[in-house]
Amino acid sequence: MSVKLVFGTQWGDEGKGKVVDYYAEKADIVVRYQGGNNAGHTIKIGDEVFKFHLLPSGAVRKGKTAVVGNGVVIDPEVLISEIEELRKRGVEPNLLISDRAHVIMPYHRMLDGAEERFRGNKKVGTTGRGIGPCYSDKIARLGIRMGDLIDEDALKERLEFIIPLKHRIFEAYGMKERLDIDEVFKEYSEYGRYLKDMVTDTLEFLQSSTDREILLEGAQGAMLDVDFGTYPYTTSSHTIGGGASTGSGIPPNRIEEIIGVVKAYTTRVGMGPFPTEQNNEIGEHLGERGHEFGTTTGRARRCGWLDLVVVKHALRISGATGIAITKIDVLEGLETVKAAYAYDIDGKKKDSFPASLKDIDNIKPIYREFQGWSMTEGEWEKVKEEGIEALPENAKRYLDFIEKETGVKIKMLSYGPAREETVEL
Ligand code: GDP
Ligand code: IMO
Ligand code: MG
Repeated sequence: MSVKLVFGTQWGDEGKGKVVDYYAEKADIVVRYQGGNNAGHTIKIGDEVFKFHLLPSGAVRKGKTAVVGNGVVIDPEVLISEIEELRKRGVEPNLLISDRAHVIMPYHRMLDGAEERFRGNKKVGTTGRGIGPCYSDKIARLGIRMGDLIDEDALKERLEFIIPLKHRIFEAYGMKERLDIDEVFKEYSEYGRYLKDMVTDTLEFLQSSTDREILLEGAQGAMLDVDFGTYPYTTSSHTIGGGASTGSGIPPNRIEEIIGVVKAYTTRVGMGPFPTEQNNEIGEHLGERGHEFGTTTGRARRCGWLDLVVVKHALRISGATGIAITKIDVLEGLETVKAAYAYDIDGKKKDSFPASLKDIDNIKPIYREFQGWSMTEGEWEKVKEEGIEALPENAKRYLDFIEKETGVKIKMLSYGPAREETVEL
């Protein structure tokens, strides 16, 4: 078995979908291991654009097995619509879904909204997809798993127990809505019938695939990790490399290559701290050139300079063996480009990311400044042939700085959304 892992090192939307699609050429199996349809992964193949929320990005390539692992939370309606969409576009996915993965239910979406309203001006800015409440139920042992969804007796029994309990919580939030157990059962048992043949023990499948190439696809980014991110402005799963093991059942020591995806600048969707944010014409340049609008909710992404304190934090926790830099093209045309490599917090220099929101609020990023650069299509072709040495000096200085600061090698450089706009180093 050879296993490669791809994860996000910032606040999500680093270009994981594109990187996974590229590496998937050599893989037999592509696995999503955490998150749910809060994720939005975009893949561009020729003129065709695919946007996945739950399906692993490898699902567009013929002959690959796509696995939705136990660590994912699944909204079955969304999963079915993604399968149907792929079929309409002439791709029949070969999909296996873990019987241990948890199901996002209507009350999870309703409570996601209620909790956000309750937080008022301290809201997280969630995607509203029910992710947090579903993971909460998993940990509280009140969840419904895919194995229950496809077993009508089990589903009925769980709903009869859980829905009255949720109604009490609705009451506490002052919510007037009530769910009808029979109606929920009817809708969800239908989803169960549709998905039944794909639901299986994916752990057994993965562990017995010893002669296959496996690619693990992360969602979100390390700064949205529920432990290591900017808590409570995070998502509800483990987005760092370690999440791949708990979310798929592949032991940590079997994962050979760990690739952290680093966008050449930083973006964030939703609320919460963002030390290198540029709420000015720099941010506008990045947002416009980078088309920084959320794949899932369409919200404009906040933009700022590359923050290497964040990236180092993510790479260290995840044991990264390589970096994939994306969207380097978006920096072209700027007079100067900056990257933060340390923080000043209350007069003390720090190069690790603090836990407390108070400390985070007091961060003053310390920047290294670079002169800008621009490139033509032809120059990129030269980089493809000759490697990183063919880059303009200023771009090389920027990339060298990233490698030197992080101590991790750049293995891939992406300069456009399409598959071909990629250089392996
Ligand atoms: P993910 O959530 O990490 O998979 O990233 P998203 O798909 O949400 O957002 C990344 C966006 O940038 C998508 O629209 C990609 O098509 C696009 N993209 C990926 N790599 C590059 C690149 O190197 N250059 C440019 N200009 N766009 C890219
Ligand atoms: P991909 O996989 C960017 C953010 C939300 C919000 C916070 C919590 O495309 O990189 P949640 O709905 O998860 O409870 O929201 O996390 N968020 C993302 N931001 N990319 C994502 O996924 C995200 N998934 C969640 O905006 O701030
Ligand atoms: Mg995304």
